[in-house]
Amino acid sequence: MSDSKPKLRSQAWFGKQDRDGFVHRSWTQKPGYPSDSFDGRPVIGICNTWSELTPCNSHFRELAEFVKRGVLEAGGFPLEFPVMSLGETQLRPTAMLFRNLASMDVEESIRGNPIDGVVLLMGCDKTTPALMMGAASCNLPTIGISGGPMLNGKFRGKDLGSGTGVWMMSEMVRAGQMTQEEFTDAEACMNRSSGHCNTMGTASTMASMVESLGMSLPSNAAIPASDTRRNRLAQLSGRRIVEMVKENLTMDKIMTREAFENAIRANAAIGGSTNSVVHLLAMARRIGVDLTLEDFDRIGSEMPCIVNLQPSGQFLMEDFYYAGGLPAVLNEIRSCLHLNAPTVNGRTLGENIEGAPCYNREVIRPLDQPLREHAGIAILKGNLAPNGAVIKPSAASPHLLKHRGRAVVFESIEDFRAKIDDPTLDIDENCVMVLKNCGPRGYPGMAEVGNMPLPAKVLQKGVTDMVRISDARMSGTAYGTVVLHTSPEAAIGGPLALVKTGDMVQLDVRERSLHLEVSDEELARRKAAWSPPPTPDRGYAKLYVDHVQQAHLGADLDFLVGKSGAPIPRESH
Ligand code: FES
Repeated sequence: MSDSKPKLRSQAWFGKQDRDGFVHRSWTQKPGYPSDSFDGRPVIGICNTWSELTPCNSHFRELAEFVKRGVLEAGGFPLEFPVMSLGETQLRPTAMLFRNLASMDVEESIRGNPIDGVVLLMGCDKTTPALMMGAASCNLPTIGISGGPMLNGKFRGKDLGSGTGVWMMSEMVRAGQMTQEEFTDAEACMNRSSGHCNTMGTASTMASMVESLGMSLPSNAAIPASDTRRNRLAQLSGRRIVEMVKENLTMDKIMTREAFENAIRANAAIGGSTNSVVHLLAMARRIGVDLTLEDFDRIGSEMPCIVNLQPSGQFLMEDFYYAGGLPAVLNEIRSCLHLNAPTVNGRTLGENIEGAPCYNREVIRPLDQPLREHAGIAILKGNLAPNGAVIKPSAASPHLLKHRGRAVVFESIEDFRAKIDDPTLDIDENCVMVLKNCGPRGYPGMAEVGNMPLPAKVLQKGVTDMVRISDARMSGTAYGTVVLHTSPEAAIGGPLALVKTGDMVQLDVRERSLHLEVSDEELARRKAAWSPPPTPDRGYAKLYVDHVQQAHLGADLDFLVGKSGAPIPRESH
């Protein structure tokens, strides 16, 4: 049974009794490791996205120490290594531009080093898919640990959700309902502890996806960063990864088609971020699972949302954990899941969630009393989005889910910012706002600008939502009737590039259609007159625009799709 007792790949470095073996061992011993560290015990790489430029992951050095405790207790040899960290709130032009670069860093760092098993420390939005993608391409035994959400924000006696509160309050300032001073006061109140965004934004969503896929220990998604049970989970994960190496429990044995279907259903049940679509597609295509954009609609769209968290609902991640966290949700929707899916702890998903209690039915609703029916991601098609576009009906206004309106077009995000509050702009709440050139290639990096703020003159009427269409993404903490990820994108000449102000656009979410009322002949004329926007001419940005795939394929680089495992490279000297 060679599968159950794999030869440790780290022994190709540390197990050699020659000059090369001397070099590998001698230099590694520098911190004072005893020589029996190299006696054939599993070497566990702790892949750390700690960075002070990624505030959501700034507690990861402490977390790594708990992983090391667990690895040592189980007889492994832990070696921590840094990889590129992606801070959502700092990195320009958008952290998403660098998701694929960070994944390459992870992949090559794992493959090129004496590592037998991997622990991924992930938190801020893009750090989770980047690490999962890179590790999947190596396919070693791997376990995920999330950094955990922040405690609830508190502002003037009330809870304040990260991200969601920013969008809400900035609109209130523009509508004259909040002063600039009050807005500034809220800064320190929103982010007051370690951890990632405390709404069901992209970070919480992706942590929930990791747990739903079976790639973390149960409860990983929701334990607050500053709750010491997070450290306990890290220590237990450290113990477990050593056993996983001995069992050769590689990622492809866990991240199966069934696991992805579980994740898609879980995403609907938690009211998860639209960003999960591009990330799950990219992760699936790395590990070799044939997942398509249409699967999100077919598998998940009928699922109800049962988690009452911002931005779809009321509460925050701290409340979610105290209510039972993701195990309680998965137990509630167990009839919709593949319960035999294996997980990293060696048990099935069904065994892990059996009897998982819910302690607060306001936060986690019963399946028959959901927060929203049919809450999963809907995939729209039509002459405006031949390869698909994404909408999150649970975050949209019900009265706008079927809408016909006059397009008001913005050629870029700068064009939008320059015009949106111009009193002469011919726009009202019935119009459809169309934003171009913010897709994977156009921005570049597919920025989170799809939830365009409404015109001040519309906000001042008390209107809070309009139909918006773009090839961008939106923050997982955002909300509204926002059509995203339109593919093909404008910058490669997709139909979105051809929309003109004054065209009529029809959105019908129930029919899954997105239609531009312009004849094929007129579109062909416009296409002939269209020319592509300029693209970067050097560095990673050039590599990215030359190779990035469209959103409906996960926006990965074409040469990174798939996995090549972790064969041992030739010696370095
Ligand atoms: Fe890091 Fe929201 S900014 S998770």
